[in-house]
Amino acid sequence: MESFLIKGGVPLHGVVEISGSKNAALPIMAATLLTDEPCVIRRVPNLSDTRFMAQILESLGARVKFADGTLTIRAKKIKGYADYELVRKMRGSICIAGPLLARLRKARISLPGGCIIGARPINLHLKGFEALGAKIKIEGGYVDATAKKLSGATMFLGGRAGSTVLGTANVMMAAVLADGVTVIESAACEPEVVDLADFLRAMGAKISGAGSPTITITGIEKLHGAEHGVIPDRIETATFAIAAAATDGEITIRGARADHLRAVIDKLNEAGVSVEKCGANLAVRRKGKLKPSDVTTLPYSGFPTDAQAQMTALFTLAPGISIITERIFESRFMHVSELARLGADIEIEGPSAIVKGGRPLSGAPVMASDLRASAALVIAGLAAKGATQVNRIYHLDRGYEQMDAKLRKLGARIQRVEEK
Ligand code: EPZ
Repeated sequence: MESFLIKGGVPLHGVVEISGSKNAALPIMAATLLTDEPCVIRRVPNLSDTRFMAQILESLGARVKFADGTLTIRAKKIKGYADYELVRKMRGSICIAGPLLARLRKARISLPGGCIIGARPINLHLKGFEALGAKIKIEGGYVDATAKKLSGATMFLGGRAGSTVLGTANVMMAAVLADGVTVIESAACEPEVVDLADFLRAMGAKISGAGSPTITITGIEKLHGAEHGVIPDRIETATFAIAAAATDGEITIRGARADHLRAVIDKLNEAGVSVEKCGANLAVRRKGKLKPSDVTTLPYSGFPTDAQAQMTALFTLAPGISIITERIFESRFMHVSELARLGADIEIEGPSAIVKGGRPLSGAPVMASDLRASAALVIAGLAAKGATQVNRIYHLDRGYEQMDAKLRKLGARIQRVEEK
């Protein structure tokens, strides 16, 4: 297993190029199952998650070619059930269910199960499929969805924590080939949902309202192949901006979308970090000392839960009290005890982390637990005095393309080493 060895204390400087979005690419890859014609998807990040999704599509019968960030996929002849172990390993693969149900009127996939950040049920996905007329059976660890025909319906998809991103994506994909009109209320408004709708429209689908809480889909007979470029990864952008602020550096982020990051930019400004748009780039630097602030994670366009851990790491460096409240996932503070190894002072009170910031961090061996928690540990390691070893970085490789190489280009002293 691999680790990162980081020698901290170097301000980041220079230019970093942002990759395509993992969370946009995964449902778009699944959407290619909706047609028997070839699809070409550009700017797909080369990550273990996207390679995994490619394997799942191949296990269903699709032909997949992945080269230089471009995917060519043809799902000419496919089957309606995916390998149990393959699907079970990556939650994001749940979004093959909608396309399979739409095209084959059946989908049999393993239940994704919970993960370290929360229980993560799929009741809203299934509620949407049932509203379209599907029969759902859960047995032997599988979800079986079948339908003689799918008919458009109006449904409310809001849940305990508000809207669901992949639930909205899945139901939207199930509805594009249904008879009649479907209206999804309390739909997720994330940019990744909009990017998927753009791709589906390029395939011929009739969709309006993506990006708003009400999405309307008019079902059609058949979709055709299409080409699409995936949006830049807003969470990778936020991660590099926060890393620059934590090290008191100055960087230019190339290929980012500022309009996808308003809540993050707003909170960084409050914390004393300037994020300025210059053309298609973002210029990030600190305006003097970091300031404490409060953050609450919410569905888009609120502050993203996927940037919460990284922001928590930043606040350990801001003198004073900061409060981070996690409203989306029940147990997304795994990074807190590891940040404490670097000397951070954080207390958990219910859904909030209370950070007493300003004490300098010092390097130590720490353990990655999930994708974004690992990014927070890398940021803290870059800011800490001395050496930090971040173990189990396979978590990071799931969602960050060549993170260590990109950081080295910004002057960071970081190496990928074999874990002892
Ligand atoms: C997507 O997960 C992202 N994953 C997550 O990113 C992200 O954290 C999340 O959206 C929220 O923004 C991908 O896009 C692959 P949800 P998703 O359904 O769609 C509850 C990362 O780090 N819920 O919007 O699975 C659920 O438990 C990952 O890149 C139900 O109760 O998340 C959670 O509390 C981690 N019933 C809340 O809704 C359901 O049927 C939001 O989950 C579905 C969800």
